[in-house]
Amino acid sequence: MKAKKWFTSILMCSVLSMPLTHVSASTDTTGKYSLKFNTANYTEKTLTVDGKNVTYRAYEKIVYVKNPVDTKYEIMNVYVPEEYYEGKSIGKYTAKTAPIFFPNTVGGYMPGEPGSPGQDERSGSANAALVALSKGYVVAEPGARGRTTQDEDGQYTGKAPAAIVDLKAAVRYLRYNDKIMPGDAEKIISNGTSAGAALSTLLGATGNNKDYEPYLKAIGAANERDDIFAVSSYAAITNLDHADMAYEWLFNGINDYKKLVISKDTDYNIQRNMVEDTLTEDQIQISNELKAMFPEYVNSLGLTSADGTALTLDTNGNGTFKNYIKSFVIGSAQKALDSGTDLSSLNWITIKDKKVTDIDFDKYIAYVGRMKTPSAFDGLDLNNAENELFGTKTTNAQHFTQFGLEHSTVDSTIADAQTVKMMNPMYYIGTKGTTTSKYWRFRQGTVDNDTSFAIPAILSAKLQNKGLNVDFALAWNQSHGGDYDLDELFTWTDKVVAASSKAHSPVKVKR
Ligand code: DHB
Repeated sequence: MKAKKWFTSILMCSVLSMPLTHVSASTDTTGKYSLKFNTANYTEKTLTVDGKNVTYRAYEKIVYVKNPVDTKYEIMNVYVPEEYYEGKSIGKYTAKTAPIFFPNTVGGYMPGEPGSPGQDERSGSANAALVALSKGYVVAEPGARGRTTQDEDGQYTGKAPAAIVDLKAAVRYLRYNDKIMPGDAEKIISNGTSAGAALSTLLGATGNNKDYEPYLKAIGAANERDDIFAVSSYAAITNLDHADMAYEWLFNGINDYKKLVISKDTDYNIQRNMVEDTLTEDQIQISNELKAMFPEYVNSLGLTSADGTALTLDTNGNGTFKNYIKSFVIGSAQKALDSGTDLSSLNWITIKDKKVTDIDFDKYIAYVGRMKTPSAFDGLDLNNAENELFGTKTTNAQHFTQFGLEHSTVDSTIADAQTVKMMNPMYYIGTKGTTTSKYWRFRQGTVDNDTSFAIPAILSAKLQNKGLNVDFALAWNQSHGGDYDLDELFTWTDKVVAASSKAHSPVKVKR
């Protein structure tokens, strides 16, 4: 299971001084990196999954653009089951038809180095990449720049939109080399958790949109399409310019919080402490103001549920949109009950004849508890990860909402509107000039308080309303994290791959 890996990476970066990465890709006579995949540059490896050997070719640290800004991150690892070089198939897949599983390692909007198949640090069982290989997927693991990436002169090189530009460039590389690489670049399935899920979602939402083109040109990305087939997204920290109001809509009135505070001691070691405290009067006022802004936003989206009910909220924040979220909590509780989980100690659940008939929403949210203080994302003191995401080459952190700027407690500036737009999938889904993925899977834990449940709920409804295929569920008693249900994940990926090969006409996106 993957959870909050970015804290570990902060620790590593601050304690160790990392050696310069040596990349295996070759440069041409102009000093540019080649975009051509080198089929001969691999090592063979074997790992075991459930006692079964998985042998694969590992092509690692491939620079995926001609003019990288940072070769520690703009690199990709590609893993291919050995069977595909022997003309064999794995399940239904062959070297030609195997889907490409594309997981990123981004957390906390930090830079992410490419991952590799192996054991998950926490659970000790096979990670998503290794499970994918064992099931016959080709695995391509991209790295991407992030909010702390700097060049030798101390200029920031990974502020928004760098990470999404990098992931798009990696997709383009796969398409550019589709004929010579095993796997089908028309079946790329992106996966990520938290900030990584935000990028996975953004990748699926913004395919081929021209907004990103100048950035892709600048780093020498292949001149190819960058739309992808499917998206898997766990606990996405996304829709950032509306996430503060969504958070306060959900947690307003819950004034006690447990917050993870990361600080450095004088030796620059990272300290992680859970701080328990209560909101100040000023923070409660901010919470009230943000909560009051949310219904107008939800109502402006014109969303409907699967049965056609308009999803709206009244000025007090009640209405069909809240019931919509409640239905997912009920669905999750029912699934837990059906699989034998004892729910009798939870006084906010009503169960009749083995059916979860209702939940008391307010009591449920009190049970989940508040983790963040208002503003949860656009921090009024510019101290949040998201403020740093929206910095510039020379400014570490900025606001990204008008509300944040107006209520700022420090000297501050606001990110330009186009950059904020380019980090939010909501502005792109099903729009003209965009190829949005057809298949989507969202998971969020029922006790995840890193963002509001409204965020994945809005995204799912929006995608569904555009005629796209969405599987959204809340994972019972799961906190902030991802990759905790790999069997179910790959059952879903197999299913959507099979469904698409049966469909003779492409899914029509409603505009
Ligand atoms: C992540 C978690 C957060 O709470 C956040 O605000 C941003 C990123 C993460 O785990 O990636």
